[in-house]
Amino acid sequence: TRDRPDTLRTPIVAVLGHVDHGKTSLLDKVRGSAVSEGEAGAITQHIGATAVPLDTISSIAGSLVDPDDFDLPGLLFIDTPGHHSFSTLRSRGGALADIAVLVVDVNDGFQPQTEEAIDILKRTGTPFIVAANKIDTTPGWNPQEGEPIQVTYEAQSDRARSRLDENLYEIIGQLSDAGFSADLYWRVQDFQANVGVVPVSAMTGEGVPDLLTVLMGLSQRYMKDQMAIDVEGPGAGTVLEVKEEKGFGTTLDVVVYDGTIREGDEIVVGGMHEPIVTEVRALLQPKPLAEIRTEKRFDRVDAVAAAAGVKIAAPDLEDAMAGAPVRVIRGRNRDAVVADVESEL
Ligand code: GTP
Ligand code: MG
Repeated sequence: TRDRPDTLRTPIVAVLGHVDHGKTSLLDKVRGSAVSEGEAGAITQHIGATAVPLDTISSIAGSLVDPDDFDLPGLLFIDTPGHHSFSTLRSRGGALADIAVLVVDVNDGFQPQTEEAIDILKRTGTPFIVAANKIDTTPGWNPQEGEPIQVTYEAQSDRARSRLDENLYEIIGQLSDAGFSADLYWRVQDFQANVGVVPVSAMTGEGVPDLLTVLMGLSQRYMKDQMAIDVEGPGAGTVLEVKEEKGFGTTLDVVVYDGTIREGDEIVVGGMHEPIVTEVRALLQPKPLAEIRTEKRFDRVDAVAAAAGVKIAAPDLEDAMAGAPVRVIRGRNRDAVVADVESEL
């Protein structure tokens, strides 16, 4: 038995999909940022993490999300690259996820990396919803900035609406071919048996309130048990990236999915040759809504509780590997934790 009540942690939401279908843009819309515009060659080449607090979600979702109905603290989004050469990063994102958003360009439908993402989600058993993105490109579209899909639907001509519906049903058919019973999200009663499709535009923000509402609703309804963790327990996470930082040397961008990591904690990190045992010198946390992958400013904090993205500065990280596990030793046998990390490599 535990002497502390469990705390609900932030669900981890992986955003997956084919290159250019709008994953980063969708997160930009939620963050109010322009990460996508700054990317070399306009493609994402790394995996990222962004914490979105509940109050931001409810301010975007408006009347669709009443913060009093939720006791989850928000959502931690993991952005992944869609370019075919980054399949390891997509798998890593999928493996971290409690739930996923599969982004599909509503005009292009399923493409090779959409199929690949579906395979990852099947393999990891991750529940997901589909964001049918770029609805604003439907010929004759009358954009309704930031509005829920129902409002936007009512503002469209019959012709525009039926063009969009055709594309949406195409995607529902492709999901069915992939073995998933799917429907427009407002027709889905049981999200465990059916995949909900949410029409959105990362450009105009239409449908983004719905997307966040469905994600919060699903997490709250189906994942609360999974989210109950001993938040004070020894932290566990996955390395997203190994990076040089001025003044800190080699650092790790980590997603913490269990427990807490504190400054001064002894940790074990998977390394190129063998597990690295070291001590946390500094924990640098991006501000809420900041993308850890591109953020320059961090808050130095004493401790970070799951789920969160954090930059860890510590000695001897030169041989650390992206994708490797990170474990806090605190109160446990060091050799056992090292063996744990070794078995996960
Ligand atoms: P990768 O990370 O490389 O896989 O791409 P991505 O899925 O993150 O796509 P990204 O967000 O970079 O968007 C690709 C292009 O599509 C950019 O030029 C965006 O401006 C554009 N785009 C994304 N979403 C929308 C949308 O809803 N409507 C329109 N019109 N354009 C969009
Ligand atoms: Mg991207």
